[in-house]
Amino acid sequence: MKAHIVHAHPEGGSFTAAMRDVVVEGLGAHGYEVSVSDLYAMNFNPLISKKDFMHPVEVPVAFTKEQRRGWKDRTLSDDIMEEVERVLAADLLVLTFPIYWFSMPAMMKGWVDRVLLAGPFYSGRDMYDRGGMAGKKALVVASLGGREHMFGLDSLHGPMADGMLRHIFQGTLGVVGYDVVAPFLAYHAPYVDEEARAVMLVQLREHVADLDRLPILPMPSLSGFDNRFRPLAASSSSDQDSSFT
Ligand SMILES: Cc1cc2nc3c(=O)[nH]c(=O)nc-3n(C[C@H](O)[C@H](O)[C@H](O)COP(=O)(O)O)c2cc1C
Repeated sequence: MKAHIVHAHPEGGSFTAAMRDVVVEGLGAHGYEVSVSDLYAMNFNPLISKKDFMHPVEVPVAFTKEQRRGWKDRTLSDDIMEEVERVLAADLLVLTFPIYWFSMPAMMKGWVDRVLLAGPFYSGRDMYDRGGMAGKKALVVASLGGREHMFGLDSLHGPMADGMLRHIFQGTLGVVGYDVVAPFLAYHAPYVDEEARAVMLVQLREHVADLDRLPILPMPSLSGFDNRFRPLAASSSSDQDSSFT
């Protein structure tokens, strides 16, 4: 089994980097062959642009079309191809990052934009349980400043998995087909003492050891929708094409 970890934190000695190291070690102990893309250390370019393509493109660039063509003809830039191959080779994708503004750091968002290509990962008709990564698992390991009680129904910031981070769990990992397992979230990370941080690292190690038993977040199944993505029960009510891909 192979796992690929994508890590985004500007500081090599951060708590989030310590969490990444625990994941590397824990997966290794469970027989995974682990690779890591440390995006800041690699100086990864997070900006999608026409320089991503080595073939002539029409301007303004239609990025999803050019990504499909670049994948088919192998004319994507080398940095994208290297990342794509590592993700495709892995049975498990792990993202390790600090929460920035209810989301992932811009560096990691740029990796998503450039690497999770239209073509191998999803296409107009192939997403969720028909996405390119169907049958594989994804795990999010994130640190954040907020306290646990600030998230959830009726809490200050509202629900986490189906609220604040839904764009990552469903809109990114779920869309491309992953079974997204329950995340590990290190709450209040910058403000707790060393002892509490050490406890969180032990809990993370246990979380990783439990990977095969962790709950999988609910995702839509395309079997409930017609070929224009209308719910099957309602598909006879209108013939308008409502798909957006
Ligand atoms: C630009 C920026 C945005 C942040 N946004 C949030 C946020 O939306 N919610 C939150 O709980 N913490 C937020 N934080 C706090 C970080 O998540 C926290 O400092 C980090 O996870 C600590 O991990 P580290 O010690 O590895 O840096 C933010 C921090 C920064 C620098």
